Amino acid sequence: MEIRYPPKRFAELLATTPDQLEREPALRAVLTPPTHEGYLAADLPRARSALGRPPRAATPRRQLFLNFKGGTGKTSVSTAYAYRLWELGYRVLVIDLDSQGHATKCLGLEGSDFPRTLFDVLVRRTPVRDVVVETGLPGLSLIPSNLGMSTIELALMPLAGREFKLRRALEEIGSAYDFTVLDAPPSFGLLNLNALMAANDLVVPVLADFLSFHGLKLLFETVQSLEADLGHVLDHIFIVINAFNKSFKLANEARGALQEHYREFLVHTVIRQCTKFAQASSEGRPLFAFDPKSKGAHDVAALTEELVAAAAGSRTAVA
Ligand SMILES: Nc1ncnc2c1ncn2[C@@H]1O[C@H](COP(=O)(O)OP(=O)(O)OP(=O)(O)O)[C@@H](O)[C@H]1O
Ligand SMILES: [Mg+2]
Repeated sequence: MEIRYPPKRFAELLATTPDQLEREPALRAVLTPPTHEGYLAADLPRARSALGRPPRAATPRRQLFLNFKGGTGKTSVSTAYAYRLWELGYRVLVIDLDSQGHATKCLGLEGSDFPRTLFDVLVRRTPVRDVVVETGLPGLSLIPSNLGMSTIELALMPLAGREFKLRRALEEIGSAYDFTVLDAPPSFGLLNLNALMAANDLVVPVLADFLSFHGLKLLFETVQSLEADLGHVLDHIFIVINAFNKSFKLANEARGALQEHYREFLVHTVIRQCTKFAQASSEGRPLFAFDPKSKGAHDVAALTEELVAAAAGSRTAVA
C-alpha cells in the first residue's frame, strides 16, 4: 500500500512548511522525491528525525479497545487511533486479537497471508518478535490475525497460567513501542482476559444507545473482578462515544445517561457518525490516508490528543 500526502499536509505533520520541504538540505537527503500526489507517508519518520522533531514524550503503554458488545467501533477507532499515533511520530504496535482479522485489513493487510498469529505466541510459545509484521510504514507494526485465531479459547483452557500468557509474552518486547494498541473481539473469554491482564488502559467505544448500558455494566464488573481476583489494576478506563448523531433525540438522551452514570470515565471527545470509516476499511486504507478531512479523522485526531495527554500523566510503564 502506497500512501502519499500533499506537501501541505506532510509539512504540517512535521511542523514545517511546504517550502522548507524542498529547500532544507537535511530533508532533501532523506525524502523520496515527491510525485504529483505528494510525499511518501513512509518517509515521515525519517524526515522527523532529520528535522530533530521527536513526538511529545509519552510513557510506553498498552491500550486495549474492548467492549463485549459487537459493532461499537472497536476496530475502526483503534486502527485509526494507532495510525494517528504513528503520524505523530510514536512507535506503535497494533495487535489484532480478532479471528476476523478486521484490524489487519484496516491497516491494508490480509490476515490469511500470514502463517503466524498471536495464537502461536500464546499457545506455541513463539517469540513475539517472530509474529510481528511490518505495515510498510516504518514504526507502525502489527501482529496480524486470521481464522487461525478462532480456536484460541479452547487451546488456552488447559494451560497453566492461562490468564497471564499475553502479559508475559509482551514483557519480552519491553518498551520497543511507545503504544501497543490491542483490538479485541466482542467476546467474553480467556483471550480477552489475557488482553485485560496485559493492558495499562482500557478504551471502550460505545454507541449512544441504551443497549450499550448493559454491556458497560458487565465490563465494569469484569474489571472489578480482575482487580479483586487477579490483582491487576488498570491505570485508566476511557469510555468513548462513537458514531454519534446529534440530530437523534435518543442519542442525546443516551449520551446524557452516560454522562450521568459514567462521568469520570467518559472522554471529552465524541466521535461523530461518519461513513468514511466503512469506505476506508473496505478499501483497506487507514482513515487518515483515505480521507484526513473527514469528521471521523478529525474526531479521532482529537481523541488521540486527549489520550496522549492522559498517558503523559500516567504512573506505570509497560516494562
Ligand atoms: N463513527 C462511525 N460512524 C459511522 N460508522 C461507523 C463509525 N465507527 C464504526 N462504524 C461502522 O460500524 C461498523 C462496526 O464498526 P467496527 O467493525 O469498527 O466495530 P467493532 O466494535 O470492531 O465490531 P466487532 O465487535 O464485530 O469487532 C462498521 O461497518 C464501521 O464501518
Ligand atoms: Mg472489531
